[in-house]
Amino acid sequence: MIEIKNITKTYRTGDVDFQALKNVGFTIKDGEFVAIMGPSGSGKSTLMHILGALDTATSGTYFLDGRDLSKLSDDELAEIRCDKIGFVFQSFNLLPRTTVLRNAMLPLVYAQVSHEERDKRAREALFSAGLDEGHFYHKSNQLSGGQIQRVAIARALVNNPSLILADEPTGNLDTKTGEIVLGTFQRLNEEQGKTIILITHEREVAEHADRIIFIRDGEVVEDHGQHAKRIINRK
Ligand SMILES: Nc1ncnc2c1ncn2[C@@H]1O[C@H](COP(=O)(O)OP(=O)(O)O)[C@@H](O)[C@H]1O
Ligand SMILES: [Mg+2]
Repeated sequence: MIEIKNITKTYRTGDVDFQALKNVGFTIKDGEFVAIMGPSGSGKSTLMHILGALDTATSGTYFLDGRDLSKLSDDELAEIRCDKIGFVFQSFNLLPRTTVLRNAMLPLVYAQVSHEERDKRAREALFSAGLDEGHFYHKSNQLSGGQIQRVAIARALVNNPSLILADEPTGNLDTKTGEIVLGTFQRLNEEQGKTIILITHEREVAEHADRIIFIRDGEVVEDHGQHAKRIINRK
């Protein structure tokens, strides 16, 4: 589903160019659960923005489901995001003093979807994200960090995307709550076949995925399945 080749991204600040991504390339198949791991500043968020059609590369190609995104206009990219991609960020970005249900339906507010359909889809997404009905009418500022991140996951699911991009989704959570959220991604991958790209700087988080792509100073330095890694570790 995803094929990127020779992706570079150059940021210009004043008259200084900085290459945040250098010749990045990989393929991710439908239904994979992949972690992109690297230290702070290695280019993870830059890469996620490109994969999520929020930004375009300086050079290189990006094929998503056979379409070359590097050739599309901003409007066409917005359409792709809306159709295919759900985003979960480290900072939860929920509306405060607004109910869980309403927060979960936000992405549908501008879609041509009836109120009944919005309500139905938001409830399904909240269930899928592991939030129980007792919380649906709570205001988002009355929830714990873990519950808030589940609402954020539900919001990413409400458009029924095939690809979920999560940038440091457990960054603001304690270890135990983080485990629960990571379990939710695993379940969405196994039971619903969602393709998941999880971005993190922590190995324990990355290890929830089936494959880890390591990135350092804007370059892919390692890319392998967890099974292969376990074999290497045993040597
Ligand atoms: N908009 C920007 N303008 C200039 N430099 C940027 C911009 N965004 C990111 N960078 C730089 O690119 C590098 C990679 O950043 P980022 O992709 O956010 O890394 P990560 O998510 O791995 O911490 C960093 O050195 C950062 O300072
Ligand atoms: Mg980042």
